[in-house]
Amino acid sequence: MIKVGLLGAGRIAGVHATAITRHPDSTLVAVSDFIPQNAEKLSIDYGCAALSTEAIIADPNIDVVLIATPTDTHSDLIEQSVAAGKAVFCEKPVDLSLERARLCQSNTAAAGLPIMIGFNRRFDPNFKALKASLAGGEIGKAELLSIISFDPAPPPVAYIKTSGGLFRDMMIHDFDMANFIMGEAPVTISAHGSCIVDDNIGAAGDVDTAVVTLTYADGRLAVIKNSRRAVYGYDQRVELLGSEGLLQAQNMLENTVVKSTASGVTGAKPTYFFLERYMPAYAAEWDAFVTALNEGKNVPVSLADGVTALAMAEAATQSVQSKSPVALKDV
Ligand SMILES: NC(=O)c1ccc[n+]([C@@H]2O[C@H](COP(=O)([O-])OP(=O)(O)OC[C@H]3O[C@@H](n4cnc5c(N)ncnc54)[C@H](O)[C@@H]3O)[C@@H](O)[C@H]2O)c1
Repeated sequence: MIKVGLLGAGRIAGVHATAITRHPDSTLVAVSDFIPQNAEKLSIDYGCAALSTEAIIADPNIDVVLIATPTDTHSDLIEQSVAAGKAVFCEKPVDLSLERARLCQSNTAAAGLPIMIGFNRRFDPNFKALKASLAGGEIGKAELLSIISFDPAPPPVAYIKTSGGLFRDMMIHDFDMANFIMGEAPVTISAHGSCIVDDNIGAAGDVDTAVVTLTYADGRLAVIKNSRRAVYGYDQRVELLGSEGLLQAQNMLENTVVKSTASGVTGAKPTYFFLERYMPAYAAEWDAFVTALNEGKNVPVSLADGVTALAMAEAATQSVQSKSPVALKDV
């Protein structure tokens, strides 16, 4: 039984607490939060102890530290947990600063402990099936990837200000998805970003709408489109054109009823947001982590994968500022 200490008791921590407690091979021992009432509430809901972050990291009874705190704390907490001999599961992104994330990677390498980054979309059954079909040779060689990722509505501006911006906070999932599907990182990143949804996001120094083109060493291409607003719900689609066919992963809908009348044909909206769409993916992600630990295998999403995605976010940010393509090796 893998004993887990959870750092943070916010939005995503509840999702992880559910996955940990439902899994037959893991148990939630304790939770901490900067705001003690948050930890108290989660500890009551999930039947575990509420401790300080330091006490969890130092607890010899805990095998795994799950980091679900704000992004600017991740590198510090990964390093502290590894220094205490713990395996780590850390939410994305690794850090707001690429330099700090790289330092975290070098500071933790020698310990050789498992560190998995929470790119949950790799475990979404639809995207996983698309990748399996590609890997099985069913559409030949991947040539052009398109990823659409639109949120239903923008977050509060207070969130934008601490998020690291659209590329580090939101599109980072899509950068990792592109790496997962194409099997490698691109060589060049060309990004365009605008603020057309909410002027307050622009005033906070961020964009809310962006298109990014990734170019691979052999000339293959990927296009990622992000928006902070899609009035019909959470739009999460992937399309992959290969030398011998096309794969498309469509949205999950609230229901499958299609109404056809004299006035037209209509159906349900996509599920509202990430908690509705990706709940099976969060459970599968946790199962993959637990299975890797139990079998002594490498975790399926490494710290290096997290650093690569962050480097792509950095390159995209620089590309918007410079209005020119940026080579990934230069960031
Ligand atoms: N993979 C995903 O789909 C996904 C979804 C949402 C958020 N996230 C990531 O998860 C992280 C947390 O996001 P959230 O939306 O849950 O934030 P949140 O603000 O809802 O929760 C974070 C909690 O951490 C607490 N905290 C701050 N410093 C702490 C510390 N040192 N020790 C313990 N607790 C501390 C805060 O008080 C807060 O309660 C972010 O890095 C975010 O990017 C990932």
